[in-house]
Amino acid sequence: MLIGANWKMNPRTFSEAKELCRGVSGSEGVDVVLFPPAVYLRQLAEAFPHILFGVQNVYWESEGAFTGEMSLGMAREAGAHYVLAGHSERRQHFGETDEMVSKKVAAALAKGFSVILAVGEATKGDDKSIVIESLKRSTQNVAETDMTRLTVAYEPIWAISTSENHEDATPEYAQEMIHTLKQEVAVGYIYGGSVSIDNVAGFLQQPDIEGALVGGASLKKDEFNEIISVARSLKK
Ligand code: PGA
Repeated sequence: MLIGANWKMNPRTFSEAKELCRGVSGSEGVDVVLFPPAVYLRQLAEAFPHILFGVQNVYWESEGAFTGEMSLGMAREAGAHYVLAGHSERRQHFGETDEMVSKKVAAALAKGFSVILAVGEATKGDDKSIVIESLKRSTQNVAETDMTRLTVAYEPIWAISTSENHEDATPEYAQEMIHTLKQEVAVGYIYGGSVSIDNVAGFLQQPDIEGALVGGASLKKDEFNEIISVARSLKK
């Protein structure tokens, strides 16, 4: 079971970030991975050595004239073991294409990171093939031997809590889509999109869902801990 906390560009201060980490409880049977803003990472990783950390984004080149970017080596040195790639906000706001995402995924896996690759359709009712094709393109450069460290987060954009007019997906809907995706790319799958203490059990009870990527609720210390407890009680 894997529970990821995608903090996005939150919280506003480093002291709040430390406070959130202080709240993360032990997690036998559940891999809890926090994705803080990269500028907080090194100090958090040093202060909380028992917590797994990741970066929300990375660049595939190892150094050079790429203003604003961060290499995998830098992420590793700062304390990251996981890389989140292809989140819909990176795709929507920063123009990331499947091709760029595939380079990030392949490079991170080749360097020994575990990767969470996010895919999902923009609008409810979009054809499944949109997600399938995006997933295939985003994983096209991945070496077969690296697949074991790849997890796909299925995140329908219309179900993400900050999307305009967002609507919760049902666990059955998520299960059906993930089941289809798994036949195309056989890796582990987690679900993301307004996961909260009220709905997490329903998602985690689905046969093909092995965890959750949590945004908004991961910024609420108590709720996030309760989500981890539910995951622990249902561990697969
Ligand atoms: P949400 O975000 O849980 O706030 O919907 C999930 C995500 O964007 O990864």
